Amino acid sequence: MATHKLLLLAGDGIGPEVMAEVKKLITWMNAHGMGRFETEEGLVGGTCYDAHKVAITDETMAKAHAADAVIFGAVGGPKWDSVPYDVRPEAGLLRLRKDLGLFANIRPAICYPALADASSLKREVVDGLDIIILRELTGGVYFGEPKTITDLGNGQKRAVDTQVYDTYEIERIARVAFDLARKRRNKVTSMEKRNVMKTGVLWNEVVTQVHAREYKDVQLEHQLADSGGMNLVKWPKQFDVIVTDNLFGDMLSDIAAMLTGSLGMLPSASLGEVDAKTHARKALYEPVHGSAPDIAGKGLANPIAMLSSFGMALRYSFDMGALADKLDAAIAAVLASGLRTADIKSEGTTAASTTQMGEAILAELQKLHA
Ligand code: IPM
Ligand code: MG
Repeated sequence: MATHKLLLLAGDGIGPEVMAEVKKLITWMNAHGMGRFETEEGLVGGTCYDAHKVAITDETMAKAHAADAVIFGAVGGPKWDSVPYDVRPEAGLLRLRKDLGLFANIRPAICYPALADASSLKREVVDGLDIIILRELTGGVYFGEPKTITDLGNGQKRAVDTQVYDTYEIERIARVAFDLARKRRNKVTSMEKRNVMKTGVLWNEVVTQVHAREYKDVQLEHQLADSGGMNLVKWPKQFDVIVTDNLFGDMLSDIAAMLTGSLGMLPSASLGEVDAKTHARKALYEPVHGSAPDIAGKGLANPIAMLSSFGMALRYSFDMGALADKLDAAIAAVLASGLRTADIKSEGTTAASTTQMGEAILAELQKLHA
């Protein structure tokens, strides 16, 4: 049995609490011979800043490069609002994404039937929703240079961010989108702002070319990112895979997440290029939610997004799709039984702490696996 090396980076706020539930799952899998997972841990974000004055150390970066997958909690919080920009908590996550070349960020938005009423939209709009936001993650305005604030000397300052995309960056994310769609409902919607942005013009052109050259069997449509956002709220079931740039993807994935009732539900996978020799790819798995400092340490956090992020690791990094399916089924079953963390609590359901939710899901998984 192959050994899988995991680097666990719990981070700040609720990160350590939700990561604790993933550790229980890993312990159970190891104990039952369902994989041989070796774990290492490291600091990232504000907690790393407190210890080392950087958001991630070179040593931890080296471990991330050596790992088969990084399992990431969350970073940030008001405690670090005034630390220097270069070492703010988010810089640790951005360095991991950039240095590991994790260009493809898969963010599924799935609405469990039991939670349809927790959404701010009507049940019929979201019930059974199953779409993917595929966000380009290593380019665009997040990393483009120049990125500066200049003092103009006349009491004015000028801030510049640069939105930049090369053909190859658009081609490779488009391919991921079409490949994903082929295994689903075979439809890709590409979103950009070609009506005002040159990067939008190129994005549209390149996605269209990749489609015509390699993926004619997949249905492709283009939407402007603003009306795409509107459609996401109006009738999200029209979509299957949405592919978009780094910044639009950041916003659209938060919107998509909320359709499902809570940000506490949604996992994500960030993948690099497939290595031609080893066929492996660098990968990081993280919940879409943030560090939620307001509820940290109170046992209120929902561990589902973190657990299903680990499920995505089983699926995309370790070829354990059957177990990932069981984990998803266990989550659905526990929700159907009425157990709820605070973020998804509604009348007539049973309140559960982070630990109670995590353990109920693990118990259900054990039943399904027996
Ligand atoms: C996300 C987050 C990050 C981002 C932050 C924490 C830097 O919002 O993963 O969506 O903007 O990409
Ligand atoms: Mg975001």
